Amino acid sequence: MKIIRSIEKMSDFSKTLMRKGKSIGFVPTMGALHEGHLSLIRKARTDTDWVVVSIFVNPIQFGPREDFKKYPRSLKQDTRLCSKEGVDVIFYPDTKQMYPAGYKTYLTVQELSDCLCGKSRPGHFKGVTTVIMKLFNIVRPDIAYFGQKDAQQAIIIKKMAADLNTPVRIRIMPTIREREGLALSSRNIYLNTEERKEALVLSQSLKLAKRLIRAGRTDAAWIIRNMRRLILEKKKARINYIAIVDAENLKPISRITDRCLIALAVWVGKTRLIDNIIID
Ligand code: PAJ
Repeated sequence: MKIIRSIEKMSDFSKTLMRKGKSIGFVPTMGALHEGHLSLIRKARTDTDWVVVSIFVNPIQFGPREDFKKYPRSLKQDTRLCSKEGVDVIFYPDTKQMYPAGYKTYLTVQELSDCLCGKSRPGHFKGVTTVIMKLFNIVRPDIAYFGQKDAQQAIIIKKMAADLNTPVRIRIMPTIREREGLALSSRNIYLNTEERKEALVLSQSLKLAKRLIRAGRTDAAWIIRNMRRLILEKKKARINYIAIVDAENLKPISRITDRCLIALAVWVGKTRLIDNIIID
């Protein structure tokens, strides 16, 4: 396995593979890898000839009061995991290369970036789409893999790729959870024992919504009220948002009839957690 730190070398390497007719599967990450990331890597490993994983904690997707500085960084452990999964290349650029002095260009997917997580994290998705387009241009993958865990991010990236005729297929893979239901996230390490227990309420509230819908309930506001009540039983939980939206355009829906996305963000202590399910 190679670790490539230079943009130029990564770009040259991908061009060589392309000329040889090899397909490239790409998994962009911010590191602190866990089973969620590994599930994407395994899918890439089975689909494509070469697997590239990028590790880059992207400063422009963090707000000024967010956790950029303390975001977990564990290159050694990540390298071990990638090597075990048969990754071919870790692309590990630094910030100075990605955003040199005088950097000016940003990419926005309108509307989809302003709602749900975008509302409380202004500029976040602009940072995500900008870095992903840069990474696509450097790595030139055939297929790129993203997790359903970050549902809004996945929808925005798909839209960006479609709107800009980007020659990369986008694959969205299911959310990997701990046995009790907590969605895996690099940020879970911020949780203490009590918070970790309380954090289960995110997936529990989604299961409750699913049960209510299965039982024939279609009133979105009523379902949200029930989710809210369950979450508020937890001492350390503070709701950022709970939303039931159309799974394509992220517009709120009042009656559940078609494919919808139930998404929520909850602060547990000082950690903001997100989770979601798709209802068909
Ligand atoms: P990061 O949080 O490291 O996640 C990298 C990829 O792993 C994303 O596509 C994310 O949705 C997926 N992922 C995370 N937890 C998962 C889980 N429990 N199950 C399945 N997939 C999971 O998301 C980012 O990084 C960044 O925003 C990035 C796209 C790399 C741009 O900087």
